[in-house]
Amino acid sequence: MKIGIYGGTFNPIHNTHIDIAEAAKNQFNLDIVYFLVSGTPPHKSTNESVADLCRLEMVHLAVDGIDGFFIDDREFYRAGKSFSYITMTEYHNEHPDDELFFIMGSDSLLNFTTWVKPDVISKYATILVAPRLGDNYDLIEKAINNYTLEFSGDFKLINYEANGLSSSAIRKAISEESKAPDYINESVYEYIVQHNLYSKYIYSMDYVRKLDQEMEKELKPSRYVHTLGVAHQAYSLAVRWNYPAVTAMVAGMLHDCAKCISDEKRINVCEKNNIPITEIEYKYPHLLHGKVGAYYAKEKYGILDSQVAHAIAVHTTGCPAMNLLDKIIFVADYIEPGRDKQPRLDILRAMAYTDLDRCVYMILEDTVNFLNESPDMVDPTTIDTFEYYRKSLNK
Ligand SMILES: [Fe+2]
Ligand SMILES: [Fe+2]
Repeated sequence: MKIGIYGGTFNPIHNTHIDIAEAAKNQFNLDIVYFLVSGTPPHKSTNESVADLCRLEMVHLAVDGIDGFFIDDREFYRAGKSFSYITMTEYHNEHPDDELFFIMGSDSLLNFTTWVKPDVISKYATILVAPRLGDNYDLIEKAINNYTLEFSGDFKLINYEANGLSSSAIRKAISEESKAPDYINESVYEYIVQHNLYSKYIYSMDYVRKLDQEMEKELKPSRYVHTLGVAHQAYSLAVRWNYPAVTAMVAGMLHDCAKCISDEKRINVCEKNNIPITEIEYKYPHLLHGKVGAYYAKEKYGILDSQVAHAIAVHTTGCPAMNLLDKIIFVADYIEPGRDKQPRLDILRAMAYTDLDRCVYMILEDTVNFLNESPDMVDPTTIDTFEYYRKSLNK
């Protein structure tokens, strides 16, 4: 069997990665290609390590189901620094009768002598070189000839027309323009949006502590304690569901920031700033604390991240097709450690970590049951959200 091994960070994976693997597979008659997702250098921060698990999940979204393509996550989960010669030695021992092909970019080829034990890599595998846009082919040819002699290995160029796409350009485009580049898989892009990846808005724990002090001044003592519970619960759920955890904490910290102001003030803020007020919100203005909270998050606390504002705005009623952060805040608000009145809290608390959508649905179910005792208080959005999740779970 002929096995291709294509290593990379895939941050994020895009169409060129797939095209290069296809080109190598066809040209060299490879039976299978493994996408070898590289691990995290030990010095990276927690925030970035959340994005690391996302890298692996995105490779799954892009690769799963393509004939002959598989994922190898051994380097991803390996402690410490991962060297290619170790992995290639393992492959060689695991597949003694197979032919191995190691796919690398032309930039890596030109640095090949700086790798640790390049001779081991080229001893066990034929090196397949993927060209990059703007390559100097004379230089690559020369390197290939030199290495062939130096390492007595086999180095071959993949027939592939390089297009200049790169993961760094994609990260930049998403961060600056927040729009879908047309050269990444649709479900990978959807994942990037849901998980708020490559955002230009990144928060520090110092900033969370600052918000904590503000909320202590702004809120009644019991509301402040609840807020701390929601912030920590949101952090924990965000870690579980691979959402930037400090961002989730910021949203949790601010979700009730407009809870301890008067009804008149809430209506006033909305009317002055063209925030629409529904009939039921006029009747029960406390329902507006989500919308006003989202407004305060931006104007008073300088939060420009639209996902944070949206999660705050919809945290009381939810809304159909909530995004990941909306769900995290909606659930955290209901199950934070200080809550003890709601029914079946132990089930909901466990469900939040195994099936977030089902947990959202069960909370809505309990809320609708509770509100049915006083029907005129029911916000139609709660009913719409409940119906949306009932249908989507039944599918
Ligand atoms: Fe609230
Ligand atoms: Fe709350």
